[in-house]
Amino acid sequence: MDLQCKFPKDFWWGAAASAPQTEGAADLDRKGKNIWDYWYENEPNRFFNNVGPSVTSNFYHTYKEDIQLMKALNFNSYRTSISWSRLIPGGKGTVNAKAANFYNNVINELIAKGIEPFINLYHFDMPLEMQAIGGWESKEVVKAYVNYARTCFQLFGDRVKRWTTFNEPIVPAEGGYLYNFHYPDIVDFKKAIQVAYNTMVASAKAIKEFRKLNIEGGKIGIVLSLSPTYPRSHNPADIKAASIADLMINRSFLDPSVKGCYPEELIKLLKEYNHLPDYNVDELEEIKNNTIDYLGVNYYQPRRAKAKACLPNLEAPFMPDYFFDNYEMPGRKMNPYRGWEIYEKGIYDIMINIKENYDNIESFVSENGMGVENEERFLKDDFIQDDYRIKFIKDHLRWLNKAIEEGCNAKGYHLWTFMDNWSWLNAYKNRYGLVSVDIETQKRTIKKSGYWYKELIKNNGF
Ligand code: BG6
Repeated sequence: MDLQCKFPKDFWWGAAASAPQTEGAADLDRKGKNIWDYWYENEPNRFFNNVGPSVTSNFYHTYKEDIQLMKALNFNSYRTSISWSRLIPGGKGTVNAKAANFYNNVINELIAKGIEPFINLYHFDMPLEMQAIGGWESKEVVKAYVNYARTCFQLFGDRVKRWTTFNEPIVPAEGGYLYNFHYPDIVDFKKAIQVAYNTMVASAKAIKEFRKLNIEGGKIGIVLSLSPTYPRSHNPADIKAASIADLMINRSFLDPSVKGCYPEELIKLLKEYNHLPDYNVDELEEIKNNTIDYLGVNYYQPRRAKAKACLPNLEAPFMPDYFFDNYEMPGRKMNPYRGWEIYEKGIYDIMINIKENYDNIESFVSENGMGVENEERFLKDDFIQDDYRIKFIKDHLRWLNKAIEEGCNAKGYHLWTFMDNWSWLNAYKNRYGLVSVDIETQKRTIKKSGYWYKELIKNNGF
């Protein structure tokens, strides 16, 4: 068959999801509470249409049928996460045998269906008791996380060969400590920096534990949300603004994860404004000695920056935006439901950057996708005809393909997501799945994009 876009042999095709967004069963079988369960109990009004995390897409009960459906769509890989508060209620102490049993079943079922499990350890879901002692602000919590990570490797490492320590560690820092979309919902730049730094320490320490166990064929990485940063113009002031945004938003996690150290310019900047976190040389040494084997790239939108138009209010809380204004490029293409710009070439720019500046480390697109509100509008012949999603995926894959042709070491593409799932404060507002989920009946129906994706995988291209 003549294809426009052909991918390398053994390319990873599949989708990504997370435990708290799919499993439901939030208070079943001894699962402990996490910050989302707690926040919803206390402020349900913060969640779109008051839909909380207790049921989500019911994967805890339907994993067998769901994995069968993944197989029907030809997936060869699938990422999800382990819920820390399910596996070790309270965050430390003994393993919940029922939870271990559940994750064993999911992993075994995936493998039996020829789908490689990619398992992530942390996807925004801090156990409540751990948040009570400071969450990622606390080194005690880092210690508990490392124990949890070791436990996961010991329980599942005989079968799971692809691990990641965190999904988008920047998000709990900015959502929980700057921009009010994660619990603990506070505004404090210094704490945000501490949280960001502590998660990098936690990631390095977990990698160290992983290496000690010498898991045969095992690789460990991290999933980062990368937004290539473009200046408004070539004016030096705009270029400086974009480069600071890039330092704060991308390089603050990418450099320590891949290179084992923080960019000098970032350290200098934080020092100048008296915002360096509490750190010590042993931790820096651990970050240096425990870098990742491979990188997951989540790409949704670019960032455009320009020099600040006005001086910041010195009495307002300090923010990264102290150094730049976000720039809305005229004529930009938008996903209006999510409010994110769609810029397909961004995926290529990220990959080329990784090739040129990060030693062409093995990587893959670990999330990319399009959330659309009120998709029932597109129901025809009893299934959703989401041609816009097919176009979105194709347009991104073309750029990914070009990057691969130019020598980038990208090994796969995981869509966000397999079936519609619960999106934090947005709950079920925007749907991202290849398969729709009726949240009243839990009925699954493959969308047009699902059928298209199945062919894409079969042909290893389109
Ligand atoms: C990523 C996260 O940031 O984007 C997912 O890893 C999330 O957890 C996805 O659901 C889509 O974003 P949102 O905010 O629309 O759910």
